[in-house]
Amino acid sequence: MEERLDRVLAHLGLGTRKEVGKLIRAGAVRVDGAVVRDRGFKLDPQRARIELHGEPLAFARHYHVLLHKPAGVVTATRSEHEPTVLDLLPNALWRDDLRPVGRLDKPTEGLLLLTTDGELLHRLTHPRWKVAKVYLAELEAPLPPDARERFAAGIAGFAPAELEVLAPQRARVTLREGKHRQVRRMFATLGTPVVYLRRERFGPLALEGLAPGEARPLFEGELAALYEAVGLEP
Ligand code: URA
Repeated sequence: MEERLDRVLAHLGLGTRKEVGKLIRAGAVRVDGAVVRDRGFKLDPQRARIELHGEPLAFARHYHVLLHKPAGVVTATRSEHEPTVLDLLPNALWRDDLRPVGRLDKPTEGLLLLTTDGELLHRLTHPRWKVAKVYLAELEAPLPPDARERFAAGIAGFAPAELEVLAPQRARVTLREGKHRQVRRMFATLGTPVVYLRRERFGPLALEGLAPGEARPLFEGELAALYEAVGLEP
């Protein structure tokens, strides 16, 4: 079924009809390879290839948002007393059926995916799929010389994890499970408590380009890679 371009883009979460109208007039949107500056242009969203600033957009039943969670915000959909990750989303990206995929502690920053797809959420957080999560940690004390080996062997009862030592008090850790406060507990066991923690990657998704508090919908390539990582079709 054909729909107006501004409606399609607004449904994708790119802004209000007025906001997406500005993007269209500015020449930021291509449909099937050609720039379209008419916001009332008719297209079939299931068939047309839509690009924003040269990046193909995903049009799917479900909706997904990538957020750079800042510190001080809770990973929940509602809270009486504290700001939640959903409160951070601009109106244009907010939907009441978005759910966070996994959890980042209140003081932890970084990449948080929100999705309306329950099956995707379930698989991304289920240990069977071993989705890699990469964290950057700054530590209160220098790491012991055997830190890498101890992470690789499995520390504090957790599954083996990769540790890349970047400086005596700075390291990148890759996990394939996601237990409560896992990174903090792992480093605490080494005697090097975490003073700053940021998630840089989640499966095929990376935080690059998003400042703390910023959010955007997924691009088509990211979406395909995400579904593929857990054996689903987008
Ligand atoms: N591990 C932690 O300790 N905290 C997080 O927020 C995520 C992983």
